[in-house]
Amino acid sequence: MYEICPETPADEYEVEALYDLCFSPGRTALSSYRLREGVPRVADLCLILRDPSGMVLAAIRFWPARIGPHRVLLLGPVAVHPTAQGEGLGGLLMRNSLTRARAMGWGRVLLVGDEPYYSRFGFHKLEGVEMPPPTNPDRVLGLELHDGAWVGVQGMVTREERPELRAGLAEMAGTPHIGSACSEVEHPRDDTDGSQSPGGAAADQ
Ligand SMILES: CC(C)(COP(=O)(O)OP(=O)(O)OC[C@H]1O[C@@H](n2cnc3c(N)ncnc32)[C@H](O)[C@@H]1OP(=O)(O)O)[C@@H](O)C(=O)NCCC(=O)NCCS
Repeated sequence: MYEICPETPADEYEVEALYDLCFSPGRTALSSYRLREGVPRVADLCLILRDPSGMVLAAIRFWPARIGPHRVLLLGPVAVHPTAQGEGLGGLLMRNSLTRARAMGWGRVLLVGDEPYYSRFGFHKLEGVEMPPPTNPDRVLGLELHDGAWVGVQGMVTREERPELRAGLAEMAGTPHIGSACSEVEHPRDDTDGSQSPGGAAADQ
């Protein structure tokens, strides 16, 4: 059985090592990291997936950001260990975290990545939403967790500067705190024999 849990400080080293393995060492030079530096993550949505031996096979993180007065959830990085890519684990973490985000009351999600991969989760190219340069506008993708959440939301994506983030989250509709509960999950593909390919590089972070 596999387990999905919110990331804790004790997991930090393993998650960073996984990201270093899956991305180039210069990953933090990407423009999207300017939106993350010094900003607390949305802890309830940062998830890790462990295999039955306890090894971290996949991880996903989220940060809060802003477009003008609008809150937006910045997805990424998401990574799956190279030995386990193409087995559905990335999809599992994506769906699990987005379900949690909806339950927490988040309305809109943003990421920079390959539309052919992320469209399966409902992401599509956003018009008029600008990430810090240099970012290919074709890779700026959004998802509505509530109908109409992206309508009229355009402009430059900026850092979440408000320190009272927790308080801000509590204002949001729905469940304010999802908690630290882990969930056991079946492997998404029971026919996995390790021979599948993930289909190439996927996304920025
Ligand atoms: C991208 C990543 C998270 C996907 O997770 P995964 O567990 O390997 O993917 P899944 O098993 O859920 O999905 C596999 C499917 O996605 C497709 N896919 C993977 N990358 C793709 C891409 N760049 N474009 C289109 N499709 C892609 C595969 O072809 C496969 O398709 P199928 O279901 O029709 O066979 C993982 O491969 C990874 O960590 N890659 C390196 C790091 C990275 O690029 N992360 C994204 C940063 S935000």
